[in-house]
Amino acid sequence: MPVPAPVLHPDFNVLRLSHVELGVTDLAASRRFYVDTLGLQVTHEDDAVIYLRAMEERGHHCIILRQEDAAAAHALSFKVFEDADLDRAAAWFKARDLATAWVDRPWQGRTLAAVDPWGTPLEFYAKMARLAPIHQQYRLYHGVKPLRIDHFNCFSPDVDAAVAFWNDMGFRVTEYTEDEASKRVWAAWMHRKGGVHDMALTNGLGPRLHHTAFWVPTPLNIIDLLDLMATTGYVGNIERGPGRHGISNAFFLYIRDPDGHRIEIYCSDYQTVDPDLEPIRWDLTDTQRQTLWGAPAPKSWFEEGSLFKGVTPRQSTLTAAPIIAPY
Ligand SMILES: [Fe+2]
Repeated sequence: MPVPAPVLHPDFNVLRLSHVELGVTDLAASRRFYVDTLGLQVTHEDDAVIYLRAMEERGHHCIILRQEDAAAAHALSFKVFEDADLDRAAAWFKARDLATAWVDRPWQGRTLAAVDPWGTPLEFYAKMARLAPIHQQYRLYHGVKPLRIDHFNCFSPDVDAAVAFWNDMGFRVTEYTEDEASKRVWAAWMHRKGGVHDMALTNGLGPRLHHTAFWVPTPLNIIDLLDLMATTGYVGNIERGPGRHGISNAFFLYIRDPDGHRIEIYCSDYQTVDPDLEPIRWDLTDTQRQTLWGAPAPKSWFEEGSLFKGVTPRQSTLTAAPIIAPY
């Protein structure tokens, strides 16, 4: 199926991805990973939960770590342009017979909870508590010096249908991988904020959260993080990279948190704000799409992801996987 034409005037205006909540089984261990090692800044913490932001962010949180009995991902959250967009979003989901609810979230204004057709939990808000800028408080920078959350990547059991769903919401395809024989889309990268993506969809057992990515200043910050992780007990948490992606042209590293939630450290993709930007097509057989330098990803990278709490994933409709890893 060809990627759809972009919807340039969607029913409601999503600005960007905002944050994710992760259930973790040892909050102290997660704090050592996200705060002491990665360098995210604590904005609130108690015995049950830690809220974090990155150095450029003025909103209260970009990731929430909650102590739970089992590791799981909760809602993927998005910021909309204005409060009225929330009502328009509620109508948009209801018109598709998809469940919605108004929920209370600390440090946020009105928040709409919804699901996509596969049960992926999504939340939308317009207002979040604003904090003083810290991007020039260089004494606070440590770890990988994370500047901002950049994107989510999710396994999808039907990427063609998921791309159509997110496209209707106004997310625009920047790059995609297609199987030449079947013309099915195997993966797609879609944006609202003007980078390569806010949301990526990858063929596989889903919905599951493949990873959450954070933007850092330069590739050297990634090298520094690798040195730090390799000498502070985290060598087993380094999964893939460093390297340069073919798709997105970004410099990357994939690491796993103490519960196995995957985090990507990411920088140097490109601007995509033009409404007539043509999506870049990659063939499934082109091994340089994943890593421009050719190094293959490990098996775990293709198979493992975080379950969304209470959501049973479905097998992909694309079972006749040709050749190499089909993502
Ligand atoms: Fe990514």
